[in-house]
Amino acid sequence: MDKSEQDALKKAAGIEAAKLVEEGMVAGLGTGSTVRFFVDELGRRVQEEGLEFTGVTTSRRTKEQAEGYGIKIVDVDDVDHIDVTIDGADEVDRNFDGIKGGGAALLWEKIVATNSRKIVWIVDESKVVDTIGRFPLPVEVIPFGERHVLDRFKERGYQPVLRLDTQGQPVLTDEHNHIIDLHMERIDHPRDLAEDLITTVGVVEHGLFLNMVDTVIVGDPNGPRIMTNSNK
Ligand code: 5RP
Repeated sequence: MDKSEQDALKKAAGIEAAKLVEEGMVAGLGTGSTVRFFVDELGRRVQEEGLEFTGVTTSRRTKEQAEGYGIKIVDVDDVDHIDVTIDGADEVDRNFDGIKGGGAALLWEKIVATNSRKIVWIVDESKVVDTIGRFPLPVEVIPFGERHVLDRFKERGYQPVLRLDTQGQPVLTDEHNHIIDLHMERIDHPRDLAEDLITTVGVVEHGLFLNMVDTVIVGDPNGPRIMTNSNK
């Protein structure tokens, strides 16, 4: 699949997801290229249909885009609940275990998701996999002492790589932390790995989102397809 085909599928999933945001709702708005299409469609609905809702964003990038459309954005601590959060994902398997954080926003994404009544992911079909892990697993770490965290991960065979930007500098998250990507190729025991990562001192959060999502909208050449998680 080339990039323009993939973008068309992402856009179709994004437009479908925008139908889930209703008048007066509090909606979590994710991060990434698929979410950009979704927010574009919400912006169209706000401007053309007069839709009014409140958004909570998972990154400064999404906040800027949404506010550009006149969407009201508040802080996650300013709302009692979030009705639905719509976000992208890097991989998802048939047990609804997924990887997120390709856009370095996993920490805010997990906080917003955890406080949402319903979580919806929008992906193109290439992201639905049998086993997660081919996409490098992002882990957000505090810069202080990160070399030692890298060493620990190397010892455990996780094949860690500190994520750098185009200038060769460590990528900074919205919380001014760094990202270590684990090139594991496949993750057969995601719950054990999640426990190991979150108990490593210096790790803030990891990109394993295990059985958190309720619904996945998959951009498919035949039209958006819905995967419903009945085990949550
Ligand atoms: C950002 C994310 C994104 O949702 C994920 O990387 C998918 O991005 P895209 O829609 O650009 O493929 O987790 O941290």
